[in-house]
Amino acid sequence: MERTYVMVKPDGVQRGLIGEIVRRFENKGLRLAAAKLMTVTPAQAERHYQEHVGKPFYPDLMKFITSGPVFAMVWEGDSAIALARKLIGKTDVTEAAPGTIRGDFALHTNRNLVHGSDSPESAEREIGIFFAPEELQSYSKAV
Ligand code: CMP
Repeated sequence: MERTYVMVKPDGVQRGLIGEIVRRFENKGLRLAAAKLMTVTPAQAERHYQEHVGKPFYPDLMKFITSGPVFAMVWEGDSAIALARKLIGKTDVTEAAPGTIRGDFALHTNRNLVHGSDSPESAEREIGIFFAPEELQSYSKAV
């Protein structure tokens, strides 16, 4: 069982795509372990995007991700990290396949609607940036 961090970015929230994105993850069979509408602080953005420091798109990325509410989520299930990346599609929107979230809805790479952790290490780190341990729910089948 894996957990992954998924975030509908400010462009996805403003375009009214939270429900569409959540539906795709639920349809796949992943379980929602945590979710909240929140504004990313500059300190959280710096931690989250530390690997992109110095890249040409970094200043815009920081401004954009803190510009309005995001919908932060934790999804869990077998191979949740890889499955989430498949559902989301490639970062470069010109390569994101139709049927993926970015392939179906995103027009620009720097406004690509949604983020998903790329490895178990990133998932653990990113979940820790946005959620306290007690915010994560655990359940199997409804009684
Ligand atoms: P994400 O993979 O969620 O995290 C890094 C983000 O940087 C990426 O989505 C894009 O939104 C943004 N970005 C903007 N330009 C680029 C680029 N040329 N290459 C990669 N990421 C980019």
